[in-house]
Amino acid sequence: MFPNRFLFLVATLLLCGACERSAQENALLPEPVAVREYPGSFKIHEPLSLWIDAPDSIARPLAGYLRTTPIECVREERKRHAAKNYLHLVLSKGDSLPESPEGYVLAIRPAGITVRSRGEAGLFYGLQTLLQLHAQYGDRIPAQKITDYPRFAWRGLHLDVSRNFFDAEFVKKQLRMMASLKLNRLHWHLTDGAGWRLAIDAYPRLTEEAAWRVGKTWQEWRRGGSRYARRGDPEASGGYYTKEQVRDVLALADSLHITVVPEIEMPGHSEEVLTVYPELSCSGEPGTSGEFCLGNEQTYVFLERVFSEVLELFPSEFIHIGGDEASSRAWMACPKCRALMEREGLKTPAELQAYAVHRIGRFLEAHGRRLVGWDEILDGSIPADAVVMSWRGEEGGRRAAAAGHDVVMTPGSYCYFDGYQDNPMTQPQAFTGYLPLSKVYSYDPAPEQMAGRDRVLGVQANLWTEYIPTPEQAEYMLYPRAFALAEVAWSPQKSRDYDEFRTRALIYTERAREAGYNAFDLESEEGERPESLEPVEHLAVGCPVSYATPWHRSYPADGVATLTDGQRGPWSYGERWQGFLNSDVDVTVDLGAVKPIREVAADFMQWYSAWVWLPARVEIEVSADGETFRSLGVIGNDYPQEEERPEYRTFAWKGSDEARYVRYHAVSNGRVGGWLFTDEIIIR
Ligand code: ACM
Ligand code: ZN
Repeated sequence: MFPNRFLFLVATLLLCGACERSAQENALLPEPVAVREYPGSFKIHEPLSLWIDAPDSIARPLAGYLRTTPIECVREERKRHAAKNYLHLVLSKGDSLPESPEGYVLAIRPAGITVRSRGEAGLFYGLQTLLQLHAQYGDRIPAQKITDYPRFAWRGLHLDVSRNFFDAEFVKKQLRMMASLKLNRLHWHLTDGAGWRLAIDAYPRLTEEAAWRVGKTWQEWRRGGSRYARRGDPEASGGYYTKEQVRDVLALADSLHITVVPEIEMPGHSEEVLTVYPELSCSGEPGTSGEFCLGNEQTYVFLERVFSEVLELFPSEFIHIGGDEASSRAWMACPKCRALMEREGLKTPAELQAYAVHRIGRFLEAHGRRLVGWDEILDGSIPADAVVMSWRGEEGGRRAAAAGHDVVMTPGSYCYFDGYQDNPMTQPQAFTGYLPLSKVYSYDPAPEQMAGRDRVLGVQANLWTEYIPTPEQAEYMLYPRAFALAEVAWSPQKSRDYDEFRTRALIYTERAREAGYNAFDLESEEGERPESLEPVEHLAVGCPVSYATPWHRSYPADGVATLTDGQRGPWSYGERWQGFLNSDVDVTVDLGAVKPIREVAADFMQWYSAWVWLPARVEIEVSADGETFRSLGVIGNDYPQEEERPEYRTFAWKGSDEARYVRYHAVSNGRVGGWLFTDEIIIR
């Protein structure tokens, strides 16, 4: 008897071990602030009894939202005595709750589930966490209590629909994913030179003409001379959102607790407007500039009418006015702009732009809204309550925060999702730069030592779409990198651990793919350029290099030590690669004494979109005395200049010789404004 009973006990324990999983195995994304495990689990018997203790204006949308999820519920009017199998949502001011109305406490007990929060958004986010647990554990969820709240209030994703148009259904699909990641701001870049995308009743030509172009993709359009078309022309390509479609998107966003921040670009990036309303440009002629004439009152009439309709549609407190990359060329040659500067005592183009930004800022303020602008708006004085979006690195954000302005951090090197996420030679064409998942994850938008860090509203990733012609491609660039962004935006900095995150990112990437999102296959990620991971040993390490052609001050790398420091560059040319503009690379390495050599090599890259080229050819010479050189050979280049796919190539001589001085001369292809980048002269 006894041995049998003992075996029975062991078997039961083993079985329970298999079926009772613990909350420590949670794979939540973003990672919550705190999880406490409890014994046991909750077994869902659908439908759950749903009881919502909140005013009807809050309860009804939450119940409606739950009907769109896989958790089946039946709503009860009141809490039942000794209830079981329940889902309770409680709006409460309880002391134990996080202060943020987006925070929540989710308690999973054997009898049922309770979500409590001070705010409707918090109840919604508690449900998002529950949905993730449900997707992971199925109908038996380990008992636990999760206390959670966001690190930042602004957790944004930006979508450029001008360079390539993405329809309303696509936008709604991304909103659903955003909500599940607890992202809460969609920055909708609705207008830019490549197409105006929003119906404006006062200016029908914006959507009859400026929304259409010759060329299906941005690249085709540019190659064909950036020509616009009319709606309905056989060659017309593009599109726009009707107000009805926008309302539909906004209704969904509202139910998902996402604020949609519209962007209407001014004063630059407005070629499409000035093509159909050229009287608003300085010259009065179409195709002459991308900037509105700021000395023309009609510009302000146009902008205020457009913004009036925008404010009517969009309830967002924040309205983005662009403000980036405006050229002053047309303004400086324009009598109207000059006269305004004279009249208002504006000394520089930045002050002229600031004048225009202030006018629009006052207009928005009078309507109870706040202006958001790219960090160029800092170049002049800015409205006191303006929000600065820091994209040209973090410097703008730091300056703005220190000066008491609210900022959203979105620096290119961490937040521009149009860059490559893996080996650029294996990836679909993208814009410049290498931004892998790990780098997005490593970003801290408000480090402890940052002055004014409490002015950092949050963080945002931007998806510019010059090189993103299809919705599939857009999703490929967004996910899984948006998962990393979500965790940067929501989770405490101290809990950040990339390896652990990556395990969860793999799960969520798979889930996203199953749900029909074309996420990048993280499992297949190759990672950083292998050559850059370890120092390289060779004969020239530490040897002096003399330069017959200077490097460019913007890309010095480690200066004179760069090419013999044993360090190879990563995929991005921004680090360790030395850059040469409009110039050959002509350098001579001194080995210190005549030595036998069998290889002389250096790498170069071609990034067409950044005007970075492989050399036309490389000439390698050697000398024993530094006076008389003889050629070891000329290495040609057969990679086509017009090829837009990035390429990394080694230009090398191999043989058997001896030398003290080795001259490495990479000849530029002569393209004006072109770059050569190299990282190391390797001599063996
Ligand atoms: C920007 O990337 N021009 C804001
Ligand atoms: Zn002008």
